[in-house]
Parts: sequence; structure tokens; C-alpha cells
Amino acid sequence: MALLDVENVRVSFGGLHAVDGLTMRVQPGQIKGIIGPNGAGKTTLFNAIAGIQKLSAGTIKLQGTEIQTLQPYERAALGLARTFQNLQIFPDLSLIENVMIGYHPKARTGFLKALLGLPSVHKEEIKIEEVAYEKLKLMGLADRATRLAGDLSFGESKLLEIARALAAEPQILMLDEPIAGVPASEQAPVVSMIQEVNKLGVTVVLVEHNMRMVMSLCHEILVMRSGCYLAEGTPGEISSNPEVISAYLGEEAVHA
Ligand SMILES: Nc1ncnc2c1ncn2[C@@H]1O[C@H](COP(=O)(O)OP(=O)(O)OP(=O)(O)O)[C@@H](O)[C@H]1O
Ligand SMILES: [Mg+2]
Repeated sequence: MALLDVENVRVSFGGLHAVDGLTMRVQPGQIKGIIGPNGAGKTTLFNAIAGIQKLSAGTIKLQGTEIQTLQPYERAALGLARTFQNLQIFPDLSLIENVMIGYHPKARTGFLKALLGLPSVHKEEIKIEEVAYEKLKLMGLADRATRLAGDLSFGESKLLEIARALAAEPQILMLDEPIAGVPASEQAPVVSMIQEVNKLGVTVVLVEHNMRMVMSLCHEILVMRSGCYLAEGTPGEISSNPEVISAYLGEEAVHA
């Protein structure tokens, strides 16, 4: 059974079908890439899976259970975590605080308990901090845990965002353009951290325009065009697919 099963999903903005009857399966343990020209619907698909964009049609199953009517926080609690195409960190908070924010789906402490200052609250806080520190360590940022996030380089900020997504201990990590805008010298650590996370058992779905990264990192790639499925296959199959080359890869090569 697929871990994530996207079936005939459509997302419409007025008359525009940004995602138009798309079907995609993600197998457990995979690094799955989604590529396609600007405006193909990749981010909209991510938003639909995460629950911040309502579907016009279709179903989304996580481990066989339909999730398309669940709220984003409920999907997060079931194991979905994502990062955003535009960096979303809090520059005036420390690194550890930025990561602790990602823990919330699993936190059990209620507001009333927190007000009453029950011992379980304190225990939970320590646990959250431990998990956050562990994720920072995994991303190679633990030595700067108490520094302000605003002091990080762009590549490090992207790693911080991944650490925050991991704080929820997801089954599936969805990364929307993890190296977009990251200087070439800082890209390799991001790529190897994604590999590391996947080796620890987290399934990864990533959107990225950097073809070198996609081809070296992904086990399987889905190509979208105008909201629709164009092709799917291994990096070798995709890079030699004439339709993909004319619709997308040719254009990327020109811009490379
Ligand atoms: N909130 C919205 N309201 C109206 N139209 C939208 C909205 N979000 C996206 N769109 C449109 O839906 C289409 C798909 O956009 P989307 O951002 O999903 O593409 P993308 O594949 O992620 O592109 P890129 O590679 O540039 O990030 C585009 O035509 C876009 O203009
Ligand atoms: Mg996008």
C-alpha cells in the first residue's frame, strides 16, 4: 500500500484548474520529486495535501485513510510535515525556539494545564526542547541553538526550516524548493541532510527546479504540466523522455 495516495485531485481558482485531476502515489521510504514549469501546480498540490487548500474533487489517503476533509493540524498529527517555497522562519527567535514551534501537533499540554502550571507541563516542555535540539543536531545547527535565526545564512535558514518540520516527527516530509535561492556553495549540505533524513526512515516529497539535485536525489519523479500529470519514472526515464524534454527540461537547460 502506498503511504500517500493522491487520486484524481482537482484544485480550482475560479475557472483555473491549478491542479487538474492529478493522481500520484508515494511509497514508504521514497524520495519522490515533483517537477514542472512555473505555474504547473506543484505548490498548489502541496497545499492540497497539507490541507491549506481545499480540493474541488478527488481524494487524498495517508496509509489508506482519507484525509482530504481533515484540518491541517490533524494531518500534521497523522505524520505530514512541510516547508514553504518562501522561507518562513522567525528571525527574532532563537534557532531552538524556531524548531520547538514545529512540535505542536504532538504536544499534549492544554491551555488550562499550562495556566495551572502542572508538573506534566514542565515535563512536556523539557521533552519539546530535547526533540528540538535533536533535530537541530541532525541539521548540523546544534552549536548555535540559542543564537537568533536572523543571524543564519540563507542555506542554514533552509536547514532550520527542515529541522522545524522534523520536530513533529513526520512520516512524510514535503519540501517546496529546498535549495531555491541557496548559493551554490551552500547547496551540498542541504542535499546531504535530506538524504540523511530519508535514511532515518522519513519519506520525502520534494518540489525543485534544480535538475542536478532532483536527478541525483530522487528515486522517482513526477512531472506536472498545467495542473496535469505529464510523466512519471526514475531519473533516467524522465531525463530521456522526449515529451518531458520538450515541455520542461529543454527550457530548464536554456535557463541553466
Ligand atoms: N491563491 C491562488 N489564487 C489564484 N490562483 C492561484 C493561487 N495560487 C496559485 N494560483 C495559480 O495556480 C497555478 C499554479 O500555481 P502554483 O504556485 O501551484 O505553481 P508551481 O508549479 O508551484 O509554480 P512555481 O514553480 O513557479 O513555484 C498558477 O497559474 C497560479 O497563478
Ligand atoms: Mg511553487
